Amino acid sequence: MRDMFDRDKKRFDKYSLQLNDILFDYSKNRINDETVTLLLQLTNEADVPAWIEKMFVGEQINHTEHRAAMHTALRDQGNQPLIVDGANILADIREERERAKQLAENIRTKKWRGATNQAITDVVNIGIGGSCLGPLMATEALKPYALHDLNVHFISNIDENHINDTLEYLNPETTFFIISSKSFTTQETLVNAETARNWHVNELGNQEYIDRHFSAVTSNVKLAKEFGIAEENIFKIWSWVGGRYSLWSSIGLPIIIAIGSEHFDELLAGAYEVDQHFRHTPLEKNIPVLMALLGIWYNNFFEVQSMAVLPYDEHLHRFPDYLQQIDMESNGKYVDRQGYEVDYTTGPVVFGGICVEAQHAFFQLLHQGTKLVPADIPAPIYDFNSIEKHHRVLMSNVFAQTEALMRGKTEEEVYEALKAKGLGEEQIKQLVPYLIFPGNRPTSTLLFNTLNAKTLGAIIALYEHKIFVQGVIWNINSFDQWGVEFGKRLAKNILHELNDAKQIKSHDSSTNGLINHYKRQRPEQKGEK
Ligand code: F6P
Repeated sequence: MRDMFDRDKKRFDKYSLQLNDILFDYSKNRINDETVTLLLQLTNEADVPAWIEKMFVGEQINHTEHRAAMHTALRDQGNQPLIVDGANILADIREERERAKQLAENIRTKKWRGATNQAITDVVNIGIGGSCLGPLMATEALKPYALHDLNVHFISNIDENHINDTLEYLNPETTFFIISSKSFTTQETLVNAETARNWHVNELGNQEYIDRHFSAVTSNVKLAKEFGIAEENIFKIWSWVGGRYSLWSSIGLPIIIAIGSEHFDELLAGAYEVDQHFRHTPLEKNIPVLMALLGIWYNNFFEVQSMAVLPYDEHLHRFPDYLQQIDMESNGKYVDRQGYEVDYTTGPVVFGGICVEAQHAFFQLLHQGTKLVPADIPAPIYDFNSIEKHHRVLMSNVFAQTEALMRGKTEEEVYEALKAKGLGEEQIKQLVPYLIFPGNRPTSTLLFNTLNAKTLGAIIALYEHKIFVQGVIWNINSFDQWGVEFGKRLAKNILHELNDAKQIKSHDSSTNGLINHYKRQRPEQKGEK
């Protein structure tokens, strides 16, 4: 890459694109015109443009579950009817969104009163995976736009510490729960919801209070009603939206409560602009397509196994977690659309961390490790409440780190630098090998004006579509998740085995050994409190 930059002073102009507030610089990648041409050829061979249309028009591209993948419909700003399963879903979408907005505004304006006529101060979302990570990431990212006297919390883990630590400081009279579960059968969520209801009833003493303090977001209204949620507090989502793609729906209720309806509309509008770009822009200027192709280039031609997302923005601290689910649960597949095992690698291991912390954690490996780790670098030009000195230091690291990863440091440069420091020949000779940086380590930088709702919506949609294009090229279904079912089912069986003191022999020796040790050691077995 260093040589290519030295030879072509216009490389940045050639390999960067601007979409509204976002500058996408992909010039610090191991590509040239031939690479891009061949990758675009691969895109056409995989019929990507046709698949893009299939997704937008609602074809059942999630073929194993016979479902469409219509997250784009959730933010559609047009008026063309969208027919799925014979119904115009745009009307349903907008009706449910208005209901969710109404509740959110009633809570935000303190019009909504709890059972003891108090305003709500704390909203607790109980959900996991796509029913948590998207809303959590977005509410954290848009914290500057939130009310200061209304806190939004997320409980997802079945580990009792999560719900205990959250409810410990909350007042049941001013706490409102949202039970978010597309299926309304996820064990972790239902156990947490039961515990939350018991906490509320025990503290307030009356089952009837549920109507003023509990709501649900689900595609299974019947189960939500059976749980005791009042029908007017149930918000529908649909089978044709994948959980990890659902924050645009009423799963986004915590976001609407946190930032208000107007900012939520901006989030939708940002995503919609990317949808339009994705659907109508020629492939060679199509940012999600290029993001996808860069990933394919490293994953399938350099055989790297991972990618890093390194936001230089503290408010994006939950973005890597969100991206892990949407990327790895979508493309962590080894069977193709025809049911055959693939003979190439598919979804990468996605990890990340907030910068500059990550520079003091794992950048050593990025710079001098034996593994090539392509990285995406989202960074804001200014912040909602920038302290200019801080922000400049932050941004200097964005530019310096991506340059250092690309250029590296040659033996000659190391030698000159150590000589200039006045080190003796012997000491220099001993140190030089450790101070050489191979460089040629790729990064793509997403520089955006500021992290507002519209830009966040756009960034999320860019990644949704990048992941979709990769799935199409790998000929896999990015919208099912059979891989999460097996472990869940085994856990349900083992749960029954844990309910008594009997020693277990029904598994392999490791699983038996672990269960039996656990049983022997747990306090109730040792007669301890
Ligand atoms: O992780 C498996 C999964 O099904 C995710 O796809 C989903 O987002 C999560 O569990 C929660 O599912 P639900 O919203 O149905 O509770």
